[in-house]
Amino acid sequence: MRTIDWVDGAVELIDQTALPGELKVLRVTAVAELIAAIRSLAVRGAPALGVAGAFGVALAAREFAGDAEGLARAVRAVEVARPTAVNLARGARRAAARLGDGAEAVLAEACAVRDEEVAASAAMAALGADLVQELCGERPRVLTHCNTGALAAVVGGTALAVVFELQRRGALAGVIASETRPLLQGARLTAWELERAGIGFRVAVDSAGPFLLARGEADVVILGADRICANGDVVNKVGTYAHALGARRAGVPFVVVAPESTVDMDTPDGAAVEIEDRGAAEVTPFSAAVNPAFDITPNDLVTAVVTDRRVVRLDRGEKL
Ligand code: MRU
Repeated sequence: MRTIDWVDGAVELIDQTALPGELKVLRVTAVAELIAAIRSLAVRGAPALGVAGAFGVALAAREFAGDAEGLARAVRAVEVARPTAVNLARGARRAAARLGDGAEAVLAEACAVRDEEVAASAAMAALGADLVQELCGERPRVLTHCNTGALAAVVGGTALAVVFELQRRGALAGVIASETRPLLQGARLTAWELERAGIGFRVAVDSAGPFLLARGEADVVILGADRICANGDVVNKVGTYAHALGARRAGVPFVVVAPESTVDMDTPDGAAVEIEDRGAAEVTPFSAAVNPAFDITPNDLVTAVVTDRRVVRLDRGEKL
């Protein structure tokens, strides 16, 4: 099934906060509910957020028909529901650009955003698997971080789509999924997806990743991005930077797989990106905490960026 879709006048999405315990589908008809789902991470992951943003505007166009002020406020609220993944505001703005043509045109544009992410996932899977086999030989062992599978997109995913494709080719020797503190997108969601796909994996605590790489337990790090800046800096789930440092030190390729909708040429570098702070409560109820949800991996640590259209070898000085 699709992680997020438009079904009979409403947005239906898998509630990712309930996984892996329960596969629950939320049916959302009001913009405020969709924004709550985005903020709580019921729907999450950059491509899925882009689709959610576009569908959010489609909901708003119906809910606020005849109320231009309310509509503008609702669109803005969707755009800023989470700040880091460029896909969210981009998807919302794309759908909003059709508001002048009526609610049906807005919905058609939102469905186009969805369909493009479906196609992009398939393209990334093939391009990424080709590159990984070229870099690492026939049956690599993969280390991945956060969740970049179908749950983070509509179907397939980004980095995890490459893992699924390697498996399909009989070219995967195993996966280490880092648990991804504090919300456990790796231990809960990636583990759930790998299990369902029948792929052998082990979960590691985040801080073990660089050590496991040093010990030679993976041949490649493959992960996604929330925003890829014009200079190639990669903004992704906190912990990505540590894995990039570990990969460089171990001489292991560090491959970022993300659709073109995540490449943001208007943002020059990682320092210009707002890193979402999700507050102390997710980390500890007992003491003060700092909880950046994403980090920035400098371009010089990235071997390659794989999108649905191209492979950019940053290690060879190629530019986005
Ligand atoms: O906070 P999340 O779970 O939305 O963060 C998701 C990530 O960081 C993913 O790695 C990224 O969006 C790429 S998803 C294909």
